[in-house]
Amino acid sequence: MELVHLILRYIHLIGFGILIGGWLTAYLSKRLQVNMAMLWGSAIQLGSGIFLSAPLGRDVMPDGLKLVVKALLALIIAVMVWVPYLKKRDSSSKGHFLAIGGTILVTVGVAVFW
Ligand code: HEM
Repeated sequence: MELVHLILRYIHLIGFGILIGGWLTAYLSKRLQVNMAMLWGSAIQLGSGIFLSAPLGRDVMPDGLKLVVKALLALIIAVMVWVPYLKKRDSSSKGHFLAIGGTILVTVGVAVFW
């Protein structure tokens, strides 16, 4: 079970890298269009996060409220990323992009500091 836990954590951290990397690439190149890395990253985070929340042989479970808050934040990120993509938007407003980046950073803060 420890190996499954480690593999899921590995996928979760790679998903985080893909998500923030996709966001940074778009933001720094001033091309404010949702890209495939952001779409994949948000889906990987939701999927791997849900499986990571299983007991997986842990002695101490992560705080339940923390997991609910993270799930809500991840859902908000997924909506902010997938809706413009599905509506085939060529670009999003700067405010929308900053909201995506800010919510990603808040979610990482919840993961690390809570
Ligand atoms: C965009 C969304 C997400 C981001 C950026 C994110 C980020 C992170 C990061 C950076 C860690 C490592 C924290 C550390 O090792 O100190 C982590 C761990 C964790 N995350 Fe997420 N996460 C996201 C979504 C989720 C979701 C939706 C869930 C489940 C509801 C979740 C559940 C967990 C759990 C259980 C751990 C602990 C892993 C372990 O056992 O070591 N995450 N997350």
